Amino acid sequence: MKFLTIAAIAVTAALPLAAHAEQEEDVLQGRQGYMKLLSLNMAPLAAMAKGEIDYDEAAASKAAANIEALTKYDIPPLFIEGTANGEMEGSDALPAIWEKPEDFAMSYAALGEAASGASEAVKGGQANIGPVLQKLGGACKDCHDSFRKK
Ligand code: HEC
Repeated sequence: MKFLTIAAIAVTAALPLAAHAEQEEDVLQGRQGYMKLLSLNMAPLAAMAKGEIDYDEAAASKAAANIEALTKYDIPPLFIEGTANGEMEGSDALPAIWEKPEDFAMSYAALGEAASGASEAVKGGQANIGPVLQKLGGACKDCHDSFRKK
């Protein structure tokens, strides 16, 4: 750890925009945390769809509502310049995000569309989760295929 800290200081000192390094680290953690929140809410839906846990309408609806809410988050500030894979340790965000911002925005909008109404759509029985999950999962995958390092 000590070595890592020293290395990090050395790298930071070498950067022309050293003052921004801390902000970039916050942004990286913020967006990875954002993604984790998405997957934490996908998990119970997937488990219910597979029958690993019992269908629970209230829990399913809440998880879906969380995803809906998250997709309304304004994400561009989580993708500031200088935080791409290759520019920053720990980042899996491909440079394509900055090269094709409109495509990236469309991918994010597609997730919003997939999530829209999900908290209602998962009500009424275990069988209703699958289709919602498929739409959501498809939107995650589409963006990851183009914009996240494998
Ligand atoms: C608009 C694009 C986009 C969409 C849609 C998207 N992701 Fe991501 N996701 C990314 C990018 C880019 C990264 C890499 C972030 C980084 O490491 O800087 C990522 C990373 C992740 C990670 C790893 C986070 C970490 O700790 O490193 C998880 C988990 C994840 N996404 C889950 C999801 C789930 C679940 C969905 C759908 C409900 C989803 N994502 C939808 C772009 C997207």
